[in-house]
Amino acid sequence: MSLPSDKGPSDKGDTAGLSAADYDAFCRFLRERTGLSFTEAKRYFVDRRVSERMAAVGVEHFRQYLNLLRYQASGEELQLLVNRMTVNETYFFREMYQLDCLVNAALDEVVSGREPGSRVRIWSAGCATGEEPYSIAITLLERWSRVDEFEIELYASDIDSHVLERAQEGIYEERSLQAMPRDLVAKYFTRLDDQRWQIMEELRDSIDFSLVNIADPRQMANFRGMDVIFCRNLLIYFDDLGRREAASMFYDALSPCGFICLGHSESMSRMSSLFVPRRFPDAILYQKPQS
Ligand SMILES: C[S@@+](CC[C@H](N)C(=O)[O-])C[C@H]1O[C@@H](n2cnc3c(N)ncnc32)[C@H](O)[C@@H]1O
Repeated sequence: MSLPSDKGPSDKGDTAGLSAADYDAFCRFLRERTGLSFTEAKRYFVDRRVSERMAAVGVEHFRQYLNLLRYQASGEELQLLVNRMTVNETYFFREMYQLDCLVNAALDEVVSGREPGSRVRIWSAGCATGEEPYSIAITLLERWSRVDEFEIELYASDIDSHVLERAQEGIYEERSLQAMPRDLVAKYFTRLDDQRWQIMEELRDSIDFSLVNIADPRQMANFRGMDVIFCRNLLIYFDDLGRREAASMFYDALSPCGFICLGHSESMSRMSSLFVPRRFPDAILYQKPQS
């Protein structure tokens, strides 16, 4: 998975919309607010999206638009722009080896010593259109032998309000479902028409979806006592400092001995020394030490 290369004819030098100075100012602003870090190589991608939003709100000069993003009390335009700047690609049962690891080993470790009936909290941070948290839910129901013994709380969040709405609606096309066994599709989804399936209501209701920017310490402070955090294929869009800051906020959000799962191309060891890499037969997870 990668950012759309979206290279255009004017990747070098000023583009029609943004001067070099404006591009720098915009990237610094976006990095500060969202953690998303865009280099020169993404200039055409960024420029196109900013120009589209400027046209949509009828603002002619970039500095005026930047002021709107900075100071609009409702934050509405910033949200609309952020929705255009994120990469939301995902699908069901992506990086399945980690879900295998969750039900084959990690969760048994998490609950060891806990009373039946106690809470287990799992958070998909950067859930995009919902395939990841629903895959977690289905894998637990199908394959974790102790699923009925504990009070499982599933949280899912994203910075993009549009994808969160789609996640809550739970309607998917074949492309999203490709990696999922057909018997599970038949069991957990209702066919709406030739192209679309909707995930069953019980699953939609079982996940607590919310709008959360993982680069915002105040929003992150609402998440505590998590046993497992999935933050996959999101931190690749952050710079080194942003990744370190996010790692430290995830550390605070986890219970002692809790686990964090990253995408296959990501390594916590390169981001932060707060976690201990744990090599399980199916996957490497990163664990918050006991103390
Ligand atoms: C490529 S998707 C990954 C989806 C899923 N985790 C997976 O691995 O398939 C990355 C998601 O991260 C979200 N994202 C980007 N920056 C974020 C931020 N600062 N806070 C929360 N979510 C963010 C994007 O909106 C996008 O939906």
